[in-house]
Amino acid sequence: MKARKIKEHIYWMGSVDWDNRLFDSLIPLPDGTSYNAYLIEGSEKTVLIDTVDPPMAREFMSQLEGIHKIDYIVSQHAEQDHSGTILQVLEKYPEAKLISTAKAKGMLIDLLKIPEDFFITVEDGETLFLGDKTLKFIYTPWVHWPETMVTYLKEDKILFSCDFFGSHIATADLFVTDEGRVYEAAKRYFAEIMMPFRGTIKKNLDKLAPYEINMIAPGHGQLFQRPKFIIDAYRNWTEGVPVNKVVLPHVSMHESTQQMVDHFIAALVARDVRVEPFNLVVTDIGKLAMALVDAATIVIGTPTVLAGPHPYAAYAAFLANALRPNAKFLSIIGSYGWGGKTVDTLAGMIPNLKVEVLDPVLCKGVPTDNVFQALDGLAASIAAKHKERNFL
Ligand code: FEO
Repeated sequence: MKARKIKEHIYWMGSVDWDNRLFDSLIPLPDGTSYNAYLIEGSEKTVLIDTVDPPMAREFMSQLEGIHKIDYIVSQHAEQDHSGTILQVLEKYPEAKLISTAKAKGMLIDLLKIPEDFFITVEDGETLFLGDKTLKFIYTPWVHWPETMVTYLKEDKILFSCDFFGSHIATADLFVTDEGRVYEAAKRYFAEIMMPFRGTIKKNLDKLAPYEINMIAPGHGQLFQRPKFIIDAYRNWTEGVPVNKVVLPHVSMHESTQQMVDHFIAALVARDVRVEPFNLVVTDIGKLAMALVDAATIVIGTPTVLAGPHPYAAYAAFLANALRPNAKFLSIIGSYGWGGKTVDTLAGMIPNLKVEVLDPVLCKGVPTDNVFQALDGLAASIAAKHKERNFL
């Protein structure tokens, strides 16, 4: 794809990664992604904001053909999907200077071995004059690494935000056309890389509030001509107020745990508690992460395997602990053959979750009526606790 004009003297560059289905060898990408870079031609200076993932370098470098001079490259985030082609750009434009935060400078040197001579570090709030255009650099740490910043183009009121407000969508449409689709993709993205830093992301939103923003140009996905849509969504996600919902990641080996899960789902529904079950054998981990953004309760359903939780359940617990959702209650249900330490093992895997642990429901072998009654009791307890806390 060729460079595309956003406004007079401002261009999208980059690459649409149509076929990528796994980001960082971890995050499912059902709709692919894009790596967005931006070229701004001021009356005196030309700036490139970010680059692309190295496998996309050929397409990106071809977009720079005909661009005779770049004065500055701005690296907003050191992760390689945005910074990975900087060295190639510097080879083409050896007179260019590389602008970053001081923290990003160290990371870029470590990760990409960029020679120190190229760097100019900027302070929070520093400006760069391009002639008829002015860039302001605003530190926004932890979106999604500690060194990140965004760039505000004053005259055009465009915010270049890199990972902030991004979404993994591969599309030929430069601007958002379907807000519902982007909402889902952006929430998945938020859950997977921003949720652990929810408090800091909220501070960054507050920091950007005084700026008049007419357009957001992120590092992934489509550009927002109605920025309020995505800023409001981020406000909601960062507030982290749980809703009356149970997230239920589960796995079963010989149907006993599955019978418990099925009964438990019905018991929650009967008590007007929303439930989102995720069979860990087939689930999309990204959807599980999304569901955790606003869940009040997590219940893990697992059989006991070799004296501990099923490895898939352990994976779900590890993921939840890493993502640090704002859930308030947690429990465990499942069947075992002769014994084991499933509850102790899982409980030890979630130190980051500030949850009240509700009595687990475990049963030996196939569940009996007593077990189903215990599951009814757990569902009733969850419903009461959600009601007490006014979770809607
Ligand atoms: Fe899109 Fe944190 O890189």
